[in-house]
Amino acid sequence: MPPYYLTTPIYYVNDLPHIGHIFTTVVADTLARYRRMAGDDVRFLTGTDEHGQNIERAAAREGVTPLQLADKVVARYHELWKTFGISHDDFIRTSEPRHEQGVVELIRRIEAAGDLYLAKHEGWYCSPCELFYTEKELSPGQKCPVHGAAVEWKSEENVFFRLAKYQQPLLDWIDANPEAIRPETRRNEVRSFVESGLRDLSVSRTGLAWGIPFPGYPGHTVYVWLDALANYITALGFGAEGATAGAPHGPEGQQPASSLYRSFWSDAPDASAAPTRIHLMGKDILRFHAVYWPAFLLSAGLPLPTQVWAHGWWLRDSKKMSKSVGNVVRPDDLVARFGPDALRYYLLREMVFGQDANFSDEAFVDRFNSDLANDLGNTASRVVRVTRGAFDGRTPPLSCDENPLIPVARQVVADYRAAMDQLAFQDALRALWRLLAEANQYLVVREPWKMVKAEGATDALSRILWNGLEAVRIVATGLLPFMPTVARQVLAAVGTSTVTENLDAMAWGGTPTSAPLPELAPLFPRIDKEKFMSEIHSSAPGSTPPAAAAETSTPAPAAATPVAPAATAAAPAEVSIDQFFATELKVGTVRFAERVPKSDKLIRLLVDLGEETPRQLVAGIGKAYTPEELVDHQVVVVANLKPAKLMGVESRGMILAATDADGKPILVRPHAPGAANGTRVK
Ligand code: MSP
Repeated sequence: MPPYYLTTPIYYVNDLPHIGHIFTTVVADTLARYRRMAGDDVRFLTGTDEHGQNIERAAAREGVTPLQLADKVVARYHELWKTFGISHDDFIRTSEPRHEQGVVELIRRIEAAGDLYLAKHEGWYCSPCELFYTEKELSPGQKCPVHGAAVEWKSEENVFFRLAKYQQPLLDWIDANPEAIRPETRRNEVRSFVESGLRDLSVSRTGLAWGIPFPGYPGHTVYVWLDALANYITALGFGAEGATAGAPHGPEGQQPASSLYRSFWSDAPDASAAPTRIHLMGKDILRFHAVYWPAFLLSAGLPLPTQVWAHGWWLRDSKKMSKSVGNVVRPDDLVARFGPDALRYYLLREMVFGQDANFSDEAFVDRFNSDLANDLGNTASRVVRVTRGAFDGRTPPLSCDENPLIPVARQVVADYRAAMDQLAFQDALRALWRLLAEANQYLVVREPWKMVKAEGATDALSRILWNGLEAVRIVATGLLPFMPTVARQVLAAVGTSTVTENLDAMAWGGTPTSAPLPELAPLFPRIDKEKFMSEIHSSAPGSTPPAAAAETSTPAPAAATPVAPAATAAAPAEVSIDQFFATELKVGTVRFAERVPKSDKLIRLLVDLGEETPRQLVAGIGKAYTPEELVDHQVVVVANLKPAKLMGVESRGMILAATDADGKPILVRPHAPGAANGTRVK
């Protein structure tokens, strides 16, 4: 079995997972499941990136230690990966001793290659990026080119890595391996970046407690990216006793290696048997993976990844998602309503892998209704219903090996496999849907539902219905990597209760004859789009949720909807501490307030939440408060609420208020003397 090593980026623990993190992990999971079905020996790694200044600061803000913060977020990741059926083989945390051990060994090798030196480091430092920028690289107004946030001038003595020395070796690697950086446009970008000249890279920080001590340089900690990138090999046991014995560039005389490292990272003498080592990530962190990481490996004399694949970004209603804008898509609500597999499907169907894609609730419902409820659900249920009626709750007694669906299925499977091999998930799904459409057409033309009434359970009917079931079985088998739970349900529904997780099972002919065919439970109940959209908007600030919406939407603090008198009569469900923390409550000061024209209830506010610019909010508190009495007072804001428009004015958050018996809102305020703007309330 060819070894296939597949990784996601390791996620920072200063944020709770959102759709971007879920996307990469779902992609990796889909690919891992597909490669297992193709017969590869797959190892799939994910994990968390826990060191560095950002985590240290986030923990301090929450009044916990960095490790406590990490533990909390890691628990959330584990919970979420279970929900999404992520089939990773390992989860690495950079705070683990096995990781530190590997980082130390990697640095020892880089040092032995003569690639480290001490020098003064001055420049404009962006803390969220954990990177220094030159004056030239900054955006106008001396802002970080990535975050647009203010940068700080830093001057310290750092350990430097001789990155410039690897400029030509990196170009040689890129040129000799046309598939090493994907997609092609990104490969060209990386190549030009390297060609334009590399500067040595600072790989240590001083004055940072939360990090791995830099071996040989007391007072220095390892730069987070050197620390983090190493996870891809430390998780395989690199740096553990003897792990690299047998690796072509490894030092002589070491003891038996960690077999994982040897299986998945070392280069086999015969290139065709070499393991595939593929890193998946978003385009924003490609440079780290396609330039710095290979350079570190070259310096350490270790094999390079065979491919780094950068996908695009999920935008929210065509805008970049950002915590400060408050438009980040979190998964809980969608999962609660539609199930994790529907979200997996949407993410993989909607994005052309490699390009940006837009997340919108409307598109989500449309996809759900048209692809899942209609094309897949209805085709399956229609053929199952007629078959059950005609053949006493069993699959038909006669199979069929000559009919017009067979060549279509053959072509579809070939296209599906070719697309999956290229990580073109959208094309793979499109191919499967072609077979569904053909099967539908085949049934519509032959009208088996009429045949059964007119002629009863004939041989011809048996073959037609068997063909229908067989086409759905092939589609559902191809869907196993995408929707592991739902695909199994569909397979069971069309009479295939024993699932063969192998691509060979996509060949025509697998549906058993005269096998029990259970009654079909609705797989994808259609969503009432209008109701759904109005429910979403009703959970926006200042609006009154209709009763139906209040029943089904995720529990939101009842008192937090200023103009909605407590609509929740039933006791709200208990929430875990993680669920509570998913709602970001922050202290802010009202800097400006005015009435929204033509409304006696709505007030437009600009609230300083300690962010670069004050946030615009609209609150339905105008009957109880005048704008003047709000200005300069502190309030508590739900800072990560989806933005919504109220009477045409965008609101990016919600002010907390209790509602008295007359429906009058009473604002919640921090106790005097107040708290710094942006302080988290918990
Ligand atoms: N810790 C680093 C990675 C170190 S890997 C050695 C990191 N972490 S992250 O949590 O900020 O981001 C993890 C991944 O999420 C990145 O691949 C990033 O591109 C991805 N995404 C974050 N937001 C995203 C979207 N809106 N859309 C798609 N993916 C995006 O970077």
